[in-house]
Amino acid sequence: MPRPHIEFIQCQAVAWRAMGEDTARPGAEAKPLSFDESSKAVTTILRYPAGWTLAQDHYVDSDEELFVLSGALTINGTTYEDGDYAYLPAGFQRSSMTSTTGADVMTFFEGAHQRVEGSAPSGLYNRDKLVERIPTKSVTWGSATDPKVAAPGVKRLGLRQDPDTGDTTWMLDVDETGMTGEVNRLETHPVVEEVFLLSGEFHMPMGVLKKGAYFWRPPGIPHGPVGTNTGALGLFRCKGGPLTTEWSDEAHPVQWDAPYKPYLPDELAAGLAPDYDPSLPY
Ligand SMILES: [Fe+2]
Repeated sequence: MPRPHIEFIQCQAVAWRAMGEDTARPGAEAKPLSFDESSKAVTTILRYPAGWTLAQDHYVDSDEELFVLSGALTINGTTYEDGDYAYLPAGFQRSSMTSTTGADVMTFFEGAHQRVEGSAPSGLYNRDKLVERIPTKSVTWGSATDPKVAAPGVKRLGLRQDPDTGDTTWMLDVDETGMTGEVNRLETHPVVEEVFLLSGEFHMPMGVLKKGAYFWRPPGIPHGPVGTNTGALGLFRCKGGPLTTEWSDEAHPVQWDAPYKPYLPDELAAGLAPDYDPSLPY
């Protein structure tokens, strides 16, 4: 079964769970956000405690995509700091992983994410998928690619596009002028859209997404209109192919203060802490 529609949660309301010895990251903590029962793919925030280390020749049997939210994580001598992005394909060989300071890392595993000691079998690792490191805070960003989104106050940074599937990961940085219209059209994509909000706010009909908001929206669901008067910085992924957008003919008023009315699987909703601390980043 594919992942359920989750739109949206504030990650602050999701509990941390300890990761056991047999997991990909023993000794770390995880805040799982969405999970695919059949493929075992997961989107999760991983928290590596200060002094965490995994000194083992190993690989992971599925692709791992990561974005450092805070702290620093070193893999094979490459240090990933706050705002750094990487895509490490299945079979990517690791000799050591360490976090001296501790690190919180948004992590997307595309399959069972088993940690396996030793060398990956030949044919597993696809070098074409590797994105070794993008320091998103210091590289040059471009403009939005969709003309209906493009505005002087909207910047886009492409992070990857899968050579086989067209799945894409990007960031969008909207300043306080970039998406202030009182009306906008609804959009529909033929692919999954997944978003984590790093800062700012997005105003939508199901509520106000604040920093630490997360959603996984299956294909074909009309959504919006979206507005922000604070600006917003988000990490975006689409799954199932490249992003295309069908816009509605009619524009609808932006709902600036809609009450929180999410679409959530029951078991996820039941586990959310109602009294979370909104000052936390996630
Ligand atoms: Fe969208």
